[in-house]
Amino acid sequence: MMSKDFTQSVWILIITTVVVASFSLLVWVVPNIVRTADIAEGSLAKPFTALELAGRDIYISEGCHVCHTQMVRPLAPEVKRNGRANQEADDIYEFPNLWGSKRTGPDLTNLGRKYSDQWHVIHLINPRQVVPTSIMPAYPWLFEQTLSGDDIGDKMKTLRTLGVPYTDSEISEARLQVRGKTKAEALIRYLQSLGQDTAQEVSP
Ligand code: HEC
Repeated sequence: MMSKDFTQSVWILIITTVVVASFSLLVWVVPNIVRTADIAEGSLAKPFTALELAGRDIYISEGCHVCHTQMVRPLAPEVKRNGRANQEADDIYEFPNLWGSKRTGPDLTNLGRKYSDQWHVIHLINPRQVVPTSIMPAYPWLFEQTLSGDDIGDKMKTLRTLGVPYTDSEISEARLQVRGKTKAEALIRYLQSLGQDTAQEVSP
């Protein structure tokens, strides 16, 4: 039974919370699940190549996402510092997304056009060589360890079940593209791919 003062009823609190949360789900989440094809069509985002995908896995396994976000919010100071704000289509081929939640280092959403490959090589071997005050860890072993590429085809097949449009030939050639490459080579290809899909929108 409803208590005299309904603000003290835990049931009313639970029921109204469920109603409000279900409404947000209906308005924000459901339309985007249904509109995935439209969103993909209107976007310049491309699926990662096999080598970029291998690099993305290294980004995850080394915990780069713990210190770096990939989420520029549409606020003037954020855009001024980090470049173009994220749009709904940006992560359409990303499973899981790497938005992150903590910025010990800068946001990397629009990193792709910023530095040369050589800069990344030096920065990964020892960040202090290019940014003397950097507190980022060094990752020299990434240049010594090589990738077998054995599992990359299976990863692409799994991503295909989630809607990433990899073709059969891309999947069958994947292993050879990754095999023998160092972890650093793959990681740098991934870093250089960040934000490239929006190049046409950014350039004047
Ligand atoms: C402990 C936190 C931390 C971790 C972990 C970390 N970084 Fe950083 N990163 C930073 C900081 C701080 C900076 C800014 C100073 C600098 O440029 O070195 C930075 C800068 C960068 C930059 C230059 C960004 C720019 O716009 O100038 C890149 C690229 C980068 N990190 C990539 C990586 C990658 C790849 C990894 C994982 C292999 C990684 N970081 C792991 C803290 C971190």
